[in-house]
Amino acid sequence: MGKGYYISKHLATAAMVLAAIALVTIIALSVVYNREKSKNAAKFTNATTSPVPPTPKTSNEPWDKYRLPDTLSPEYYNVTLWPRLVKNVNGMYIFTGISGVMFTCVKKTDLILIHSNKLNLTLFKGHHAKLTGQSGVTAPAIKTTWFQTEKQYLVIQLEGKLKPGKSYWLYTEFTGELADDLEGFYRSEYMEDGEKKIIAITQMQATYARKAFPCFDEPGMKAVFHITLIHDLETTALSNIMGLEQHENDILTRTIFGPTKKMSTYLVAFVVSDFKYISAKDKKGVRIWARKKAIEDGQGDYALKITQPILEFFEKYYNTSYPLSKSDQIALPDFNSGAMENWGLVTYRETALLYDPRTSANGNKQRIATVVSHELAHMWFGNLVTLKWWNDLWLNEGFASYVEYLGADYAEPNWNMKDQTILYDLQRAFAVDSLTSSHPLSRKKEEVNTPSEISEMFSTISYSKGAAVLKMLSEFLTEPVFAKGLGNYLKQFAFGSSVHSDLWDHLQKAVDQTPGVKLPYSVHEIMNRWILQMGFPVITIDTRTGNVSQKHFLLEPDYVVKHHHCNITFPDPLKTLLISLTAVLNLSYEWFVPIKWMKKHQVQDQLWLLQKSALHKPMKVSKDEWVLANLHVSGYFRVNYDLGNWERLLSQLESDHQVIPVVNRAQILDDAFNLARASIINITLALRTTKYLLHEREYIPWEAALRNLNYFFQLFDRSEVYGAMQAYLKKQVKPLFEYFGIISSNWTTVASGHTDQFTQIIALSLACSTGVEGCRELTRSWFKKWMQNPHNNTIHPNLRSTVYCDAIAAGGTEEWNFGWQMFQKATVAAEAVKLRSALACTKVPWLLNRYLEYTMNPEKIRKQDATSTIGYIASNIIGQPLAWDFVRANWDYFFKLYGTGSFTFSRLISDVTYRFCTPFELSQLKRFQKDNAETGFGSGTQALQQAIEKTTAKIKWLAENKEPVLQWFLSESP
Ligand SMILES: *[C@@H]1O[C@H](CO)[C@@H](O)[C@H](O)[C@H]1NC(C)=O
Ligand SMILES: *[C@@H]1O[C@H](CO)[C@@H](O)[C@H](O)[C@H]1NC(C)=O
Ligand SMILES: *[C@@H]1O[C@H](CO)[C@@H](O)[C@H](O)[C@H]1NC(C)=O
Ligand SMILES: [Zn+2]
Repeated sequence: MGKGYYISKHLATAAMVLAAIALVTIIALSVVYNREKSKNAAKFTNATTSPVPPTPKTSNEPWDKYRLPDTLSPEYYNVTLWPRLVKNVNGMYIFTGISGVMFTCVKKTDLILIHSNKLNLTLFKGHHAKLTGQSGVTAPAIKTTWFQTEKQYLVIQLEGKLKPGKSYWLYTEFTGELADDLEGFYRSEYMEDGEKKIIAITQMQATYARKAFPCFDEPGMKAVFHITLIHDLETTALSNIMGLEQHENDILTRTIFGPTKKMSTYLVAFVVSDFKYISAKDKKGVRIWARKKAIEDGQGDYALKITQPILEFFEKYYNTSYPLSKSDQIALPDFNSGAMENWGLVTYRETALLYDPRTSANGNKQRIATVVSHELAHMWFGNLVTLKWWNDLWLNEGFASYVEYLGADYAEPNWNMKDQTILYDLQRAFAVDSLTSSHPLSRKKEEVNTPSEISEMFSTISYSKGAAVLKMLSEFLTEPVFAKGLGNYLKQFAFGSSVHSDLWDHLQKAVDQTPGVKLPYSVHEIMNRWILQMGFPVITIDTRTGNVSQKHFLLEPDYVVKHHHCNITFPDPLKTLLISLTAVLNLSYEWFVPIKWMKKHQVQDQLWLLQKSALHKPMKVSKDEWVLANLHVSGYFRVNYDLGNWERLLSQLESDHQVIPVVNRAQILDDAFNLARASIINITLALRTTKYLLHEREYIPWEAALRNLNYFFQLFDRSEVYGAMQAYLKKQVKPLFEYFGIISSNWTTVASGHTDQFTQIIALSLACSTGVEGCRELTRSWFKKWMQNPHNNTIHPNLRSTVYCDAIAAGGTEEWNFGWQMFQKATVAAEAVKLRSALACTKVPWLLNRYLEYTMNPEKIRKQDATSTIGYIASNIIGQPLAWDFVRANWDYFFKLYGTGSFTFSRLISDVTYRFCTPFELSQLKRFQKDNAETGFGSGTQALQQAIEKTTAKIKWLAENKEPVLQWFLSESP
């Protein structure tokens, strides 16, 4: 950070004092860990009352550990696979394969452990593999081979020892199922011209490469891959790099891919399909692949337009050229996550890559730009340099989630992308990180072992908190320093792997080499506070004295203690210890906080808060001034003020809100509502932050307001508060609705600005849901017109979600069936999603129940869409109890399908419990936890704990705040 950056003198001396007590903090931080650990240990003490299965017996045999031993190191794999795209005689889709791996012995051993899951391996003289030595070395004979299925190992025990420094070739032949399970090597189906098409595709991350061929399936075990695919003549085979040669006979093609760069198993990919592609004449070898119809329809054009510029942007940003010779982007009809950054062959959900200007909304377009940017960012950060183990996943995903906005902003400079991070990362992260059931960004590697534990790492905390914390780091270092350290880090670890502190080392070096940038502590010390302890601070500024202080922000601060009280599974001394530790812990929650701030009449400034509380005289202001902190929302913390300053900020908003930056207007709203939810400020103060919305025309503050108000809707739409709240909001949104009526020539066009188009959607949906005159008449007449002429949908793509939902909610069976028909016919994925979510808006219970049943039938709702469809239904007031009953009744089914691997599973749990706010619902949740303790909650374990905590907090909050909320809305409604 160049000029304008300083540490206040007062704080600089405080820093020296603090250095002395740094040791104390380190001890305190390790207490956080011990608490986390003992929490878990306590869970295991009584398996019958705990949701977590008992720990397996500890064993010292290497095959009973989830991590591979460090005795062997892979060099390269030769893999040939032949997927059959028709059923075999047993009615099964299968693939066959042969695979060899050349590995070096690092430490003397008579044991080979290699991952292999769900593959049927051929026997050679009674053993599942063959072993030969290289360059004249004789391999020891195989004694026995067997499967450790829980740890997913093929275990090979040898008669003699492998020799350090020598290389060996391990060869296997196998058959696997080409299932429709979205994992490993799997199949996807779609209809084209009335014909069912089957394609073979992959998803290896995190632990599914072992389901395609035996391999040392850990990210740090990088190797070179020679892949060969055998496939039908009329199909194309793709992999991480270009096909080198093709051999054909009468019925089959053999496509041989040259050696890849050294890379991790989870980034390997291959596809066999009859897809088409488009490409641009450029040096990066960019191609966009999709279903033939979608490509002919031009749906890949937008992705093609932005991919190359984004790649060029990242080459500059990382100061490293694109490491591969081609970059394929492929849209798949069945895909579990949003997209996957396979090196050189990025796979996407159709909605994340395909754009049809006639039917897709501008929100769909923005999603494509950000997802493409996110995945391309990984080509360097994650793929070229890979984190050694999944415990550091947050750095990989947090990083890509941060820089995706930089890449998208480069491709679409008029979209205000960088500001949108506060909505899509910062505020989203705050929501889960303010719970006591949150967890630190960084985990110890010993804590992440099983496939479920690994998938649980793919969480909001890893992505969104990771992004917010890295953005803060980049801003206090300044972007040039950040980029310099980053570039050097990539150079040092290219084609290798690292741990998070390696990045800190390089950033620190960049700081040391840049005159003018001074930090109060090292990058390590500052960042440890943010990554080793969970949560974040609320900064309180008292403008009467200039006092600035910090405190761990929790929505329900008493929760930990209470929680442990009711759980009588603790031995008593441990319980007492835990409670006293909690008290100590609240003291130890301190961060080194870079605070940018401004005064009403003055330039902006920055200070570091390095302790619990400090005096900062410039923040003491007179009665006609105010202080605004976390300027441009560059820091990961909330801000509270003395009441006088709040009042002055509120009157500034009402008199001339534009003096306050757009993102800060959004942050004032979000902070105020959350401080009120934590009972730190009065709820009426938070509600008053929405009064200025009468004048607000910007997207980001409206979206922030809408989310907080939605939360209110969910809390109150079953109570008497609802009517008064509706009346107030109707009054607030009316000017916005009228404003867009005018600029869109009475809703016949859309606003020209990108984010203005988002605001226009908010105006329409909020106006319709609060009953602003003329709104529902509009949307329902549009939908009716479409029903009368199904081949000519004249509803603007941006407005379709709102219009469909509103019309289906107001209608009955006829509207629903029409929507369902249109959903089944949709050829553009983005359009299908709009209909799929709108179908959940009906108020007719039997329709909702039938729709829920459809989620268990992949012919009706694809497996990739099942959990989100249930989530849509659960957000409907009528659908919520139905969805909850449905999920409980079919728990075993959903758990079996989604529970262990996929991270959509935790979404399912949080979606169906999102509305919970009564003691009865809480008791149901706890009962559910108890009843399914045996099946367990897999990757949804955290989500369930969060649901219980959130419900508990809401019950308490409602008891205290419902009445004042009702009174306030009554006093403010017309
Ligand atoms: C576990 O809990 C059950 C039910 O509360 C109780 O009956 C049992 O004694 C407990 N077992 C142990 C080992 O504490
Ligand atoms: C693996 O494949 C490469 C490329 O085709 C070849 O050069 C090499 O000899 C193969 N290795 C073994 C052990 O077959
Ligand atoms: C693998 O073997 C098992 C047991 O014989 C069999 O049920 C399964 O269908 C086989 N899988 C494949 C893909 O052949
Ligand atoms: Zn990612």
